[in-house]
Amino acid sequence: MTLLAINALCKNFGGLKALSDVSFAVERGSIHGLMGANGAGKTTLFSIIAGNAKPTSGRVFFDGDPIQGRRPDTICRLGIARTFQIVRPFPGLSVRRNVETAILYGRQEHVGTADAEREADRILAEIGLADAADKPASTLTLSGRKRLEVARALGTGPKLLMLDEVMAGLTPTEVTEMMQTIRRVKEANDLTVLIIEHVVSALSDLSDRITVLHHGVKIAEGTAREIAENKDVQSAYFGEDDDAGLDDDV
Ligand SMILES: Nc1ncnc2c1ncn2[C@@H]1O[C@H](COP(=O)(O)OP(=O)(O)O)[C@@H](O)[C@H]1O
Ligand SMILES: [Mg+2]
Repeated sequence: MTLLAINALCKNFGGLKALSDVSFAVERGSIHGLMGANGAGKTTLFSIIAGNAKPTSGRVFFDGDPIQGRRPDTICRLGIARTFQIVRPFPGLSVRRNVETAILYGRQEHVGTADAEREADRILAEIGLADAADKPASTLTLSGRKRLEVARALGTGPKLLMLDEVMAGLTPTEVTEMMQTIRRVKEANDLTVLIIEHVVSALSDLSDRITVLHHGVKIAEGTAREIAENKDVQSAYFGEDDDAGLDDDV
């Protein structure tokens, strides 16, 4: 069953077509990968789904209802949470408070402060940040900040979790750990995951299906194996000398 449907989505920035007539569906309970070189339009797509940007045309359906153009806080309360490529914690607040804030302000239902604290600690344990709960967010390493970004998204109680390059800049060991974490939180919280990831091997490993964007156009969709064998994908990635940036496999 489809949880998220992207329907003929277009986004222009002046003369630049960041997204051109993009359509695909994300199955409930799946991990759906979004692949493409820098500038392909991946983050723009996330921004439109999450309400941080309005599409030029086209529609986004969540649980069967059109949501395009709605406010980010409304979309968040409907059950869609995203992480940002540039992580955005409140640096002065403790790690726990960062997650509590997401719980208190990101959910449809009212949550009391005691419950929010308990829920924050549950999420921090799940994400592997329990030991850092009392530290200021600013003291976290890059890997820690990426985890906190995921924890804050989880705090809003999503059905759909959208992860934007949460493994970028991590060591191979940290990438492996992050993949395990993503699988664990997905199962524990009954989530559907839409994930953008530069590390192709990690994306292929995690994803049930992958959609590939190239210069704002969907050029392929399928299982990791189908994508690896796809001629259009091969020429888009390896047939151009424009720093597609996808050769940093680990
Ligand atoms: N707010 C914006 N204003 C103008 N151009 C933008 C804006 N956001 C993104 N773009 C452009 O849209 C294209 C797609 O960007 P983006 O969605 O960030 O790609 P990706 O996440 O796949 O690297 C790029 O050419 C980028 O420069
Ligand atoms: Mg991006």
